[in-house]
Amino acid sequence: MADYTSATEEEILEQLKKVFAETFGEGEIRLFFAPGRVNMIGEHTDYNGGHVFPCAISLGTYAAARARDDKKIRFASLNKKGDIREAELGDIVYKEEDSWANYPKGVAWAFEEAGHVIPAGFDMLIFGNIPAGSGLSSSASLEVLTALVIRELFGLDVPQAELAILGQKAENVFVGMNCGIMDQFASAMGQKDHAIFLDAATLNYEYAPLILGHAKIVITNSNVKHELASSEYNTRRRECEEAVAQISAEKPIETLGQLDGAEYEAVKHLITDPVVEKRARHAVYENIRTKDAVKALDGGDVTEFGRLMNASHDSLRDDYAVSCPEIDYLVDEARKIPGVIGSRITGGGFGGCTVSIVEDASVETFCETLKKNYKEHCGLDAEFYIVTPGEGAHELK
Ligand code: GLA
Repeated sequence: MADYTSATEEEILEQLKKVFAETFGEGEIRLFFAPGRVNMIGEHTDYNGGHVFPCAISLGTYAAARARDDKKIRFASLNKKGDIREAELGDIVYKEEDSWANYPKGVAWAFEEAGHVIPAGFDMLIFGNIPAGSGLSSSASLEVLTALVIRELFGLDVPQAELAILGQKAENVFVGMNCGIMDQFASAMGQKDHAIFLDAATLNYEYAPLILGHAKIVITNSNVKHELASSEYNTRRRECEEAVAQISAEKPIETLGQLDGAEYEAVKHLITDPVVEKRARHAVYENIRTKDAVKALDGGDVTEFGRLMNASHDSLRDDYAVSCPEIDYLVDEARKIPGVIGSRITGGGFGGCTVSIVEDASVETFCETLKKNYKEHCGLDAEFYIVTPGEGAHELK
């Protein structure tokens, strides 16, 4: 099971049941899945009160779980054999040494914080097949998965979208990463063959069919781990808040997502730091691009959708400064290949993955050419996943 992408779902579930029984004892076992996500367009807009357009993918995190009759919560992982972490309901605290287990612990903590009573402890064994640090939301999928497990084991009255909110709270407050709502929302609310057009300010959303004609969505993993991401991410958030504060001296706003292009042009002179102005420019225009992209897709204009994806990348690279040389190389090379309709970085940035729309007939050339050139130029192995948008978090019967 070391090779995360090659195991089938059946093999994963068999292994989970076997190791769960060995670790936590025989008895009834329930199985769950929560997906990762790929964002098509709308990057770094969620915490700026703007729109995003992600879809759930088939990679994600699986769990085997069972309620206990005491107050202990225990977590184990097939990805970290033998590493069992535990805490006590009512007394869940962040511990550096608990590493990955702080995410599920944080979710149990978030339930209690929100006033949901978890009546008993539980055991949970997980297995994730999203490569860590790839920007496909392995942590959000683990959070949403844990929220689902808690709801289902104890029959709690928690709507599906709230699983996302509880997951985000765990990440923001318990783990200390100030992420927006996109990843958890996509993991909880994903729908087969659709992306989610989400207004992150109101959490209103619509499902949009990802009809791409004769083209596929291809994720390319740069295998550059986004280790810088968390501190730089929090810096970008602060820069955007600074822009909001300065603009508000003349035009009171809560978020940059409230401004259209003309409004932004009229107030941008209020931002004193040119770096902050670039960050704000990205946030405003990326939100506009996202709305335009969804409109283009709705009208069947995949070429325009691809053009907007390209513009999104250029802005993330030049204005928001969240790309890196390896990712820029992958995007530049991708755009040279005939049949590539659009290509951009996806997720928080500083490594991770690109997402591209590639005509069916060019997919093979795309993967072969990028793999070879990337290895020669950057010395790293790129990996490819063809995306079929899938269901949000659910129990496996
Ligand atoms: C990370 C965060 C999301 C979002 C993206 C950037 O994935 O978790 O909330 O801000 O970065 O679009």
